Amino acid sequence: MSSVSAAWDQRYREGSDGWELGRPAPPLEVFLRSDPRSPRPPARVLVPGCGRGHEVALLAELGFEVLGLDFSGEALAEARRLHGPERPALQWLQADLFDAQALTAAGLGPASLEGVVEHTCFCAIDPALRPAYLARMHQLLVPGGWLLALFWCHPRPGGPPWGSDPAALEQHLRGAGFLPELWEPARGSVDARQDEWLGLWRREP
Ligand SMILES: C[S@@+](CC[C@H](N)C(=O)[O-])C[C@H]1O[C@@H](n2cnc3c(N)ncnc32)[C@H](O)[C@@H]1O
Repeated sequence: MSSVSAAWDQRYREGSDGWELGRPAPPLEVFLRSDPRSPRPPARVLVPGCGRGHEVALLAELGFEVLGLDFSGEALAEARRLHGPERPALQWLQADLFDAQALTAAGLGPASLEGVVEHTCFCAIDPALRPAYLARMHQLLVPGGWLLALFWCHPRPGGPPWGSDPAALEQHLRGAGFLPELWEPARGSVDARQDEWLGLWRREP
């Protein structure tokens, strides 16, 4: 176990988990349930840094084949308690998203996914690792695969949660080989996160 994952375990144990919503993020849930532009099943989808797994459970309910990944054993124990153990359409995986060997061993090789749903994982990782994060998502997705993301674009220094600038993030995503189908301020965010942006990005074919 790395010191970074141990620190996240500790946050879950202590209950110092101020990011926890207790449900899927409202802008993502509304988009997935009712927006005509939303991707539809069948699709194999990853939720990196899934925490207690609320988006994972929603995606499974909507008919996607979904994999919730987190390197915190505490988070995944909670996810299993809340949403049930593995079943064909819902899998939990304890692994570091930067550990290519562990991901490949778990069936997450290049072009093994049609979709990724991102919610407060990007803002949780060290900004120096953001290029590696986007490269990993690009590698995991099939050409034309989608990244549905709710990015927390707050301007405050420090983190986690580390902030982002929407224009700089757009350039970063384009540079990493993603094209926007949707990139706009999110609607319906919880009060404490009024600076979220919702994006539906496609891996360049
Ligand atoms: C701020 S929490 C968000 C959890 C969940 N997405 C939510 O919105 O409730 C960030 C999560 O990412 C996980 N995480 C951070 N870095 C990771 C990495 N390199 N590999 C796997 N999980 C990671 C943490 O353990 C934590 O559960």
